[in-house]
Amino acid sequence: MFSTAFVLFTALTAVFGAPAPVSRRAAAAVTTLSATDLSDLDSFTQFARAAYCPVDKLMAWKCGQACKANPKFEATLSGGMGNAIQFFFVGYYPKTNSVIVSHQGTDPLALMSVLTDLKLLKGALNSTLFPGTPKGVETHIGFRDQHAIKALEIQAEVKRLIKEKGATQVTTVGHSLGGALAELNALSLRLNLPAEIGVNAVTYGTPRVGNDDFVKFFDSKVDDFKRVNNEADLVPTVPGRFLGFSHPKGEIHIVDADKKEIVACPGNDDDTNEKCQIKTVPSILSGNILNHLGPYNGIFIGSIFCD
Ligand SMILES: *[C@@H]1O[C@H](CO)[C@@H](O)[C@H](O)[C@H]1NC(C)=O
Repeated sequence: MFSTAFVLFTALTAVFGAPAPVSRRAAAAVTTLSATDLSDLDSFTQFARAAYCPVDKLMAWKCGQACKANPKFEATLSGGMGNAIQFFFVGYYPKTNSVIVSHQGTDPLALMSVLTDLKLLKGALNSTLFPGTPKGVETHIGFRDQHAIKALEIQAEVKRLIKEKGATQVTTVGHSLGGALAELNALSLRLNLPAEIGVNAVTYGTPRVGNDDFVKFFDSKVDDFKRVNNEADLVPTVPGRFLGFSHPKGEIHIVDADKKEIVACPGNDDDTNEKCQIKTVPSILSGNILNHLGPYNGIFIGSIFCD
């Protein structure tokens, strides 16, 4: 892993070696969050972690700590192969009368090499999955196409559970590539579900998904979005803003995992405050890919953490 990392980082130096220009704008204020604000997210963190487990374990809801942490959860649909199609699951969570949709992520080094490709393509969203999307909205086509594979099946199951259980809320979660899929799913479900059903999303170590128009549209539709970034994780800084990619609002940055120092960052992708992701990782060389795995309030997420 480390030699691959070394090769990758050496290759990236050529592209990202120059330090980021000094920002002259005044720093926007962050909000300091309490340990409780962070632990309130634990159940979502464990759902995001569980998505790294294979389908049979998910359907039986026997995936070690991640499943035990949310004991009454009923998984009703799961699929994927953990490779070409990420594992995912949908189910009912009685504690919050919610439907949960969770997507697996992928190997962070493989993801980094894809997302630092300067020829990365953006494209328009499918109008069946994203009805009413304005012209100009574009996302990374890899994320878009991966989301599209399971989107209708997931949407049908979400609707079925809302009807059967009387659920009033849908929460999409995911880590890494799974965070990007959760972001797309939150928007797609928001556009396809009745207004009285709440849709929110909580993601971890999520790369940038789409362009400014996508972000504007997303922010106007999904009003409860939290994207949690850990310390100097590199993944939230790619694809680069210079390639026309942006983040929706809702950044929560774990500044120091050990000390549980955690802030909510203003705006969409704050580049003025020392405590937010961009300033923490001003160039790709100052990041740490191991931070991608956590800990998110003591919880690690990744293929080796399904036990
Ligand atoms: C859009 O998505 C629908 C539903 O998955 C599919 O039937 C249709 O072929 C897609 N359209 C395009 C242009 O990809």
